[in-house]
Amino acid sequence: MTAGLIAAQKAYIQFGMKPVSPQSLPASIDGTVDLLAQADYLSDRSLGTVLFLALKMGRPIFLEGEAGVGKTEIAKVLSETLGRRLIRLQCYEGLDVAAAVYEWNYAAQMIAIRVAEAEGEHDRQKLEHDVFSERFLIKRPLLQALEPDTAGAPVLLIDEIDRTDEAFEAFLLEVLADFQITIPEMGTVKAAQPPVVVITSNRTREVHDALKRRCLYHWVGYPTAERELAIVRTKVPGVGKKLSEQVVAFVQALRKQDLFKSPGVAETLDWAAALSELDVVALDPATVSDTLGVLLKYQDDIAKLEGSKVKELLDEVKSDLRAAE
Ligand SMILES: Nc1ncnc2c1ncn2[C@@H]1O[C@H](COP(=O)(O)OP(=O)(O)O)[C@@H](O)[C@H]1O
Ligand SMILES: [Mg+2]
Repeated sequence: MTAGLIAAQKAYIQFGMKPVSPQSLPASIDGTVDLLAQADYLSDRSLGTVLFLALKMGRPIFLEGEAGVGKTEIAKVLSETLGRRLIRLQCYEGLDVAAAVYEWNYAAQMIAIRVAEAEGEHDRQKLEHDVFSERFLIKRPLLQALEPDTAGAPVLLIDEIDRTDEAFEAFLLEVLADFQITIPEMGTVKAAQPPVVVITSNRTREVHDALKRRCLYHWVGYPTAERELAIVRTKVPGVGKKLSEQVVAFVQALRKQDLFKSPGVAETLDWAAALSELDVVALDPATVSDTLGVLLKYQDDIAKLEGSKVKELLDEVKSDLRAAE
């Protein structure tokens, strides 16, 4: 038994932690694709290749693509299948070090100082040392991700980085360069084993080249009809064969329209589930029109399809499906 395993078991016994089973990294591209499939994530070979390389080379992976194409899910699935802890940093405008890295618990520090003074403690140096110790440190995701874990280095998901500003990006670049963070009052924290870093962007703005250069890049596109059908059948198993084919073909046709926001895989899955709830067995124009709000989230897009457009698209989709039979 390896030392790591023994330590993990001890932690399990001592602290009542969940049993951990450290998983080894996949040994090949096919192994990576299979690993994702274990958690119902159906990836193509190009994504499998980039992920395999990122894991093997210990490099962050940068996933860019439209909303709802399965970027965030990749980090979740990696954490699940590798048996690693998932640490998520959701980015937003104005995200700062206090929310992303660490913060001192000022209130607790104040109370500790008051109590110490009341007890007659006047050694300022000792007081300062006590108050700037780990006990008063609130660890945020980036710092948490550098801590050792018995199950192996965690998966760090930095989600929707395009929502932050360039100053934060520059800071992140520094952290990713050597996986260490300096806390002036305490010293430097360095990861013994770098986390598996997954960065996602919905591309609402370009992310700086310097950050991309640190990472392996992959554009997550919409799946082919074949893969999308497999995803629907895996994730919404109650949907009949005919309906699932029509749903996927209709969504794929919608993506060819000039819309403000095309439906992602998330919307396809929602729509399939909604139609299944309504006991629909095959698409008809009225049902499609009534449930468009599951697929399209902008009134302008919905307005474009109102009237005869839905019927027209649906007829095309059905005749294509018949031709393919
Ligand atoms: N290749 C895929 N295999 C299985 N499920 C997928 C796939 N792509 C997307 N999904 C599903 O689509 C939904 C949206 O994915 P998500 O990761 O939230 O998208 P994004 O982060 O790109 O906006 C999730 O429920 C996810 O499980
Ligand atoms: Mg996402």
